[in-house]
Amino acid sequence: MISGKKILVTGGAGFIGSNMVELLHNDNEITVVDDLSNVDDRYIRSLVESGKVIFRKIDLTGKNSLEDLGRQDLVIHLAANSDVRGGSENPIKDLNSNVIGTMEVLEYMRRTDTGEIAFASSSTVYGETDVLPTPETYGPYMPISSYGASKMACEGFITAYSHYYGFKSSIFRFANIVGKNSTHGVIFDFINKLRKNPQELEILGDGTQRKSYMHVSDCVGSIIYVHEKSSRTDIFNLGNDMTTSVKKIGETVIDKMGLKDVRVNFTGGVDGRGWKGDVKIAQLGIEKLKSTGWKNSYTSDQAVEAAVEETLAQLPHS
Ligand SMILES: NC(=O)c1ccc[n+]([C@@H]2O[C@H](COP(=O)([O-])OP(=O)(O)OC[C@H]3O[C@@H](n4cnc5c(N)ncnc54)[C@H](O)[C@@H]3O)[C@@H](O)[C@H]2O)c1
Repeated sequence: MISGKKILVTGGAGFIGSNMVELLHNDNEITVVDDLSNVDDRYIRSLVESGKVIFRKIDLTGKNSLEDLGRQDLVIHLAANSDVRGGSENPIKDLNSNVIGTMEVLEYMRRTDTGEIAFASSSTVYGETDVLPTPETYGPYMPISSYGASKMACEGFITAYSHYYGFKSSIFRFANIVGKNSTHGVIFDFINKLRKNPQELEILGDGTQRKSYMHVSDCVGSIIYVHEKSSRTDIFNLGNDMTTSVKKIGETVIDKMGLKDVRVNFTGGVDGRGWKGDVKIAQLGIEKLKSTGWKNSYTSDQAVEAAVEETLAQLPHS
């Protein structure tokens, strides 16, 4: 496990970021940068107040926004517009938040001689593939969302900067990540819909969309494990061997909330997709991840079940 390092976590107030900060803060000097555009500082507040973590409210897209943070040993770059669904309405947002934000991080690294970055990319870079599970070597990439396109551009700039300036970069293409501190996503949405109306659940698409889900503890653990083991710039899929359907997630949420006789309505969507740009079946090949020696603690179904329980446990009681 990594220790004694100065680590900058961008997006560290968010879902995956706050879990990362929790994992690393005891043994490392952690600075979190977040503009709090998606969620407030609730998930890291106690660590900041106790002086264990430094927090800076910064919008990464500002020119030289990270200027005075100084050299780090590692940047874990998680800040992004995580609203994949909003892409068709506002694709420019993905360009600004994700690509411009990443360029600012890379320029900051160059100026401060910070030599290592771990980056949160996404399965959406592949687009809709005819090879399942999809390995890292699959191509050509044809993303079907501006979010996926922006992540693809970020990956390219990261590998180019690594070549120019000798950075060690680990690019992680995430499947769907679930677990505590979630701020968005299918489980979060279903629970919130059912809290408003416990008699009915609207499911976007036809419910047959299947994706592999990874628990957030496996996600943050494997990022650190793989980055530490890796000696060069490389790309890894992060996910699970099996998939879980959206319909099954709906049933799990209903069951764990103790609800009965819930009407489930499928919107049908565009070709059964949840929204324009939604990849219907996403399953990443994780042989490369496994070859590092990493083993997930949760299967896809177990990750979903645990995440439903964790999200329910974090709800304010009303
Ligand atoms: N959750 C998933 O299933 C999933 C899947 C694939 C990839 N990812 C990627 O993982 C990373 C973390 O995602 P998450 O699910 O924790 O989302 P999140 O929205 O909870 O976290 C992202 C954080 O970045 C911050 N942020 C956004 N724009 C910023 C800016 N311009 N400057 C500073 N901070 C900014 C937000 O306030 C938020 O706290 C993102 O890069 C996301 O694209 C997530």
